[in-house]
Amino acid sequence: MAENLDPGARAAAEQKARKAARDAARQQEPAEDRKGKEIVPPWEKDATGISLVDTHAHIDGEDFDGDREEMLSRAEKAGVVAVVTFGDTMESSARVVKLTSSHENVFAGVGVHPENAFPFTQADEDRLAAWTKEKNIVAIGEIGLDYYWEKDEEKRKLQRKMFVRQLALARDLDLPVCIHDREAHGDLMTILKTEGRKNRGVIHCFSGSWEMAKELLKLGWYIGVDGPLTYKNAAKLPEIVQNMPADRLLVETDCPYLSPLPYRGKRNEPAYVRITAECAANIRGESLADFAAQTTKNACEIYELNL
Ligand code: NI
Repeated sequence: MAENLDPGARAAAEQKARKAARDAARQQEPAEDRKGKEIVPPWEKDATGISLVDTHAHIDGEDFDGDREEMLSRAEKAGVVAVVTFGDTMESSARVVKLTSSHENVFAGVGVHPENAFPFTQADEDRLAAWTKEKNIVAIGEIGLDYYWEKDEEKRKLQRKMFVRQLALARDLDLPVCIHDREAHGDLMTILKTEGRKNRGVIHCFSGSWEMAKELLKLGWYIGVDGPLTYKNAAKLPEIVQNMPADRLLVETDCPYLSPLPYRGKRNEPAYVRITAECAANIRGESLADFAAQTTKNACEIYELNL
């Protein structure tokens, strides 16, 4: 990367490179063997009595610039009554605030994702705080730790610093947080038991063990599950979904990433939360309608959604 770039331009260039890497990774995900299977999109299924919330999405970005309104109406047809979308940079946080101002059923969190960590100033913190006063802004997020994409110890230190600072901001504002944790379970648990012990919120796209989930439940956290639940290599997730107390589980897409089967490798969107919900309801031996009602109730509790 050119040395003469100013810090803002360098951060933007690094962010672009990371997005390109993630897009490339997404395209390399194996598509499901679709031979002999008829695919009915969730918006063509009967949504009578189904009321779901996609509790973790990223719908502000350019992936949806071509069809954002159509995508939201597909979600509605699939039984998705609300979407909670999250900023991952200051720029995308500004965009989610704009989105919530013009959409009744779109709620949002503002925050800076660990992959985009930067030396956060008081002015940045003030901007985040001011956005939380806007319509339908319900959380600080997406924040957390990502040691999968970040191997550099200095930058991991910066992630921890920024995470702790945003946790403090959420406590000051009395808001829940939405937490990303990828290959950073140890440091996450340490922070949640110390600086974060008085925070509340969701560990989204949970990738830990049932032992870790139990610890988080004891500390009062909610757990979000995504499309990987539907993958053949879902590992520990089905066991966790089966064992989770009904009142702490949430379903989400993390779109445009992590499409459930049979859309793996393609762009994800909020309507597909229904596929993950169907899979989770099956594992738990519940009807989709009951599972949706319970997880929607949970979403309304933790994010204080007025639906
Ligand atoms: Ni996310």
